[in-house]
Amino acid sequence: MTLLEIKQLVKNYSGEVTVEVLKGIDLKIQKGEFVAIMGPSGSGKTTLLNCVATLDQPTSGKILLEGENPHEYNKNKLADFRRQKLGFVFQNYNLLAPLTVVENIVLPLTLDREKPSVMLKEAERLMTELGIAHLRNKRIYQLSGGEAQRISICRALIHNPSLILADEPTGNLDSKAANAVMELLSAMNQERQVTTLMVTHDAFSASFCNRVIFIKDGRFYNEIYLGEDRDAFYQKILTVLSHLGGRSRELLQADY
Ligand SMILES: Nc1ncnc2c1ncn2[C@@H]1O[C@H](COP(=O)(O)OP(=O)(O)OP(=O)(O)O)[C@@H](O)[C@H]1O
Ligand SMILES: [Mg+2]
Repeated sequence: MTLLEIKQLVKNYSGEVTVEVLKGIDLKIQKGEFVAIMGPSGSGKTTLLNCVATLDQPTSGKILLEGENPHEYNKNKLADFRRQKLGFVFQNYNLLAPLTVVENIVLPLTLDREKPSVMLKEAERLMTELGIAHLRNKRIYQLSGGEAQRISICRALIHNPSLILADEPTGNLDSKAANAVMELLSAMNQERQVTTLMVTHDAFSASFCNRVIFIKDGRFYNEIYLGEDRDAFYQKILTVLSHLGGRSRELLQADY
C-alpha cells in the first residue's frame, strides 16, 4: 500500500532572486518501508523532508499521505495532522533540556489531553521496549548524544504516527552511538512496521534502510534497494555517492 506519494514536487525560494531547489520530484513510499535520502550538500534533501513534514509549503506539485493532502488544510487542521500522523527526529534532538526524559516523551500526548496515568503507562511501556527505561528520571542535559537521540525516537513514536521523518539523525554522533541509533530505528521499522524517511550524509547509516534514493540538484538521480547482503548494499551506496560527487567531506564521512 502506498503511504506517501509525491507528485511533481517543485519548491522555489523567492527573495531578490528566485532559487529553484526542487525541480519536479516524483516519489512513492510504501507502508513499512525504511528509506534514506542522500545527495550532495545543497541538493534539496532538507527542503524535501520539510515539505513532507508540512513545515514548508510546495511551490507546485502534490504530497499525499494516506491519500490526504495536508497542504490544503487550514492552520488548526494542519496542526492536528502533523501531531497525529508524523513523528520527527532531528539532528540536534530538539528535546526540552530542563525537563526529564519521561516528561519529554509524554509531551506529544499532553497535547491530546490524555490522562496523566494513561500517558505515563504508555511512556513506560515504550521506554522499556526501546531499552531506555533506566534513563526515565534523568534531565536531558545529563544524557549523551546517543541517549538523547534514542529518547527523541521514543518521543516520535509515542502517538503511533504513520510516518517518521528524520533529518540527519546520526549527524552529531560518533560511529558507536550512530550504530545504536540506526539499530533502534531499524528494529522499530521491522517490529512495528513504522514507515521511516530519513535524510543522511552517512553511507553506513543509510545501509540500515531498505532503499536509498539519491537526489542531485533538486532532481531524482538514482535509487537502490537492499538485496540479500547489507555489506554489499553499503558498498553500492558508496559507489553511487562517488559518481554523484559533492564535497569530499561527505565521502570521507561515509567511509567509516
Ligand atoms: N529558506 C530558504 N531560503 C532560500 N534558500 C534556501 C532556503 N532553504 C534552503 N535554501 C537553499 O536551497 C538549497 C537546498 O537546501 P537544503 O537545505 O534542502 O539542502 P540539503 O540537501 O539538505 O543540504 P545539506 O546536505 O547541506 O543539509 C540550498 O541551495 C539552500 O541554500
Ligand atoms: Mg540538509
